[in-house]
Formats: sequence, structure tokens, C-alpha cells
Amino acid sequence: MNQYHTGNKIIDETKQGEALVLEQMHGGKKLYIESYGCQMNFADSEVVASILGENGFQTTRNLEEADLVLLNTCSIRDKAEQTVRKRLKAFHQVKNARPEMKIGVLGCMAERVKDKLLDEEKLVDLVVGPDAYRDLPNLIEEVESGQKAVNVILSKEETYADVNPVRLGHNKVTAFVSITRGCDNMCTFCVVPFTRGRERSRDPQTIVDECLGLYNNGYREVTLLGQNVDSYLWYGGGLKKDFDKASEVARASAVYFADLLKMVAEAVPNMRIRFSTSNPQDMHDDVLYAIADYPNICNYIHLPVQSGSSKILKTMNRGHTREEYFDLISRIHKIIPDCALSHDMIIGFPGETEEDHQDTLSLMDHVKYNYGFMFKYSERPNTFAARKLEDNVPDEIKTRRLTEVINKQGGHSLVRNQSRIGMVEEVLIEGNSKRSDEHWSGRNTQNTMVVFPKSGDENPGDFVRVKIEDCTSATLLGTLQS
Ligand code: 5AD
Ligand code: SF4
Repeated sequence: MNQYHTGNKIIDETKQGEALVLEQMHGGKKLYIESYGCQMNFADSEVVASILGENGFQTTRNLEEADLVLLNTCSIRDKAEQTVRKRLKAFHQVKNARPEMKIGVLGCMAERVKDKLLDEEKLVDLVVGPDAYRDLPNLIEEVESGQKAVNVILSKEETYADVNPVRLGHNKVTAFVSITRGCDNMCTFCVVPFTRGRERSRDPQTIVDECLGLYNNGYREVTLLGQNVDSYLWYGGGLKKDFDKASEVARASAVYFADLLKMVAEAVPNMRIRFSTSNPQDMHDDVLYAIADYPNICNYIHLPVQSGSSKILKTMNRGHTREEYFDLISRIHKIIPDCALSHDMIIGFPGETEEDHQDTLSLMDHVKYNYGFMFKYSERPNTFAARKLEDNVPDEIKTRRLTEVINKQGGHSLVRNQSRIGMVEEVLIEGNSKRSDEHWSGRNTQNTMVVFPKSGDENPGDFVRVKIEDCTSATLLGTLQS
């Protein structure tokens, strides 16, 4: 396992492909879909569910009875790809017993592995990249007529703005809403610009409409999703990099991320709003003021830093130094007192010395994140780092440094949670606690999981007040207040 975290949400690359199962009908045919990777990928599976739902597919939670099996894949680290390959081999075994079953690969692995999976290993019938899901019904028809089908073309415009996702999540309280696709930042370690293409933003009105629709269906929290949400820019459609070529009128009426946040916050004032992921170099104070001004925008920012060393940040092409990051952190605390922060950290990037590692630990001591996602560096094909930098930190050193970083984060998470003891928190109930049907679980505005005994009068989707009495490093424990 090379992905760890000590906070609220556990993402383990060996388990995270928890089946997202669709139940739509296609002339009596049954579809099964599993998703791996980030929240964007899970949101994409909901788009796929909608597109295939319109084409009449019926769901199954049972792989054995599926006519079409789709695997929505992730390329972010080698481990994620290995997990997907294992699953594909398992699917193939099922197909051996039922050759009429078709298998498709969607998402970030599609472009790179298409030839291998389709032609060499013959593991799949269908390969579809993240911008080609509208083509799925045609491609499935091709497959049904006995051909292999592939579409991995990346688009300049596609945002699936008009597709109303079929919600596949485990609760009917929180949902993801995509606002941008792709990424232009070109961090040297990252495969995303290659797998998901250049950055483009979605029409803000369709985002507001989707959030309103969710509210009317009982949802009480949305997370606006993008690889780099702070970079959101709507000027009538098209790639972000082409903004300068747009007409003066289009540029003058452009909608930036802070504008979008305010639009959504005002349109659905009783809906909690979160967003992910923020990029320090693109985060501006107007976003911080929007969070401070609107009570329904949550006091929580996921702000990956990746390293505490300015030298490593430079080779990562992160666009900011350690000092600039500290400056942003102090502006956050000034503008939004009580704002929780989480991070992503890469351990053992090429050239990382013991001194750089100490810089990472001291940056963590300075910020004291509420929680974090910590990863060993994994070289990804085509990236600048793979082409130009030697993966020269030995694995045992990566492992030791990762353990130190995880332990440090565990301590900070515990201290942050202990500081809430005695406070009364507003919690949105999401459902039963994992450990007991006698307890509810939900989150406070800071995105920390809160668990408390049921009283019998409340339901998922309710906002309640909970007095915090105890905690672990991952969870706050309390009792309901009247
Ligand atoms: N190796 C390890 N971790 C990576 N991430 C992205 N690319 C890599 C890589 N090549 C991590 C970053 C990012 C998170 C989604 O995954 O921390 O923020
Ligand atoms: Fe994985 Fe990145 Fe693709 Fe998300 S965008 S599925 S994290 S490779």
C-alpha cells in the first residue's frame, strides 16, 4: 500500500475500487461499473451512468450477471494501475465462463494502455478516455457487433455540462459536482495533464442548476470538483489557455472561482458548499473572503503542498516557495479564523535529501494540518520527472521518511481534534456510524467526522448541534444538544 492518511477518509488503493454499481437497462442488458482514483473519477462514473441510463441499461451489483463491465481507472501512481490490472484479470476469468460478457476500461489509464489491453493481452473489448463518454452508446454497439472499440480523444470543450449525473454515492446527503476538467499546471510528477488534457471550465449556470436540483432532491452538501478549482474561469466555453484570444466582451464578463462560489452559495443558501482541490499558486484572497462571508461555504481547504523544501517545490514546478506557502497559510488564518487545512505530500521525489525531508517535517509542524494524504513518489510515464529526473531516493529511505511524515500527521490530527473538545459543533448527519447503528456520523464545517448516539428524532440530512466530548486522531465523539 503506498497511499496513507491519518484523517477522516481512508483511501487505500487496494480497497478504494469499492463497486459503484449501476442499475440501468439496455434491452434487458445489465451493467456493472467499478471506480478507482480521485473524486473526479467517481463523479465521472455518475456521468457515465447517466449517459448509459438514457440508453436504457439496467444495473446489477452482481458481476456474474453483468453483460457489460466497466472499470473507471486511475493512473496517478503505479500502485493504482496495478490494482486495476488485477481487477481486469479477475473480470477476464468471469468472462471465460461467459464469453458474451463485454469488458471496458474507462478513464485515466485508457490512452496509455489501450493497445496493450485491446490487442496484446486481449483483456478488454472497449477503451474509452475521460472526454469520450458521450460516444459510449455507439462504441458499445460496435462491440456488440463483434468489433473492438476505442475512443481516447481529448476534447477542448467537453465538460458534460448538460448531463445530469446519476448519483451513485452511499448517502443521499452529500454529492460531487464537477466544475472544471483537465489541468494546465504541469507539475513535473503528475500524469493528469496527459490523461485528462488541458483545462476547461463548465458553464456556471449549469453548475448552479445542478446544485439546486440536488437541494430539491434532499442533498445538503455539494463538493465542487476540479483538478485545480482556483483556476476556474468561464468566458463562454473553451480552453483556459485560450482566454486571451476571447473577445473583449467575453473577457469582461468572465466568471472566476470566487464568483462561482458566491453564485452557488446564494442560489442554495441552505446547502453546504465544499470544493477540492486547491492549488496554492492559484488561490487568491477573493476566494478566502468568499469563504469568510458566506456561512454555507465550509471552513475547510484541501491545500496540497507536496513538499516543504523550496528546492524540491521548484523541481516539481509548483510555482511557489515554502515562504510563499506560509504567507498564504497566514492569510487564510487571518481571513478565516478556525479554517481547517489538509494536504497532499509526496515523499522521496527525485533529489530529495535528508535536509529537504526535514523541511517537509518542519513545514508540517508550522501548519499543523488537520489531516493529510501522503504518498511515496511514483514515477509516471511521459511526465517531465520521468523523462529528465532520476528516481534516485532508495525505496527503504522513502519508506522511512513516509513513516515519519505519517506519524507527524497523526500527532497533529490528534492535537487538532483534542482542541475541539468542549465545543458545540454544527454537524450534517450523513448516515449510520460505520461501527454502530445506534450512532450517527456526519461532519462539521471543518470536514472532521463526528460520531454521536442517536436520539430517535433526527434523520440523515439534518443539521444538528453536537457537544464534543472525546476524540481519536480521525474522529470527534460527542452528544446531541437540544
Ligand atoms: N507519485 C506520487 N504521488 C503523486 N501524486 C500525484 N502524482 C504523483 C506521483 N507521481 C499525488 C499528489 C497529488 C495527489 C492527488 O496524488 O500528492 O496531489
Ligand atoms: Fe487518478 Fe488523477 Fe485520473 Fe483522478 S485525475 S483518476 S487521481 S490519474
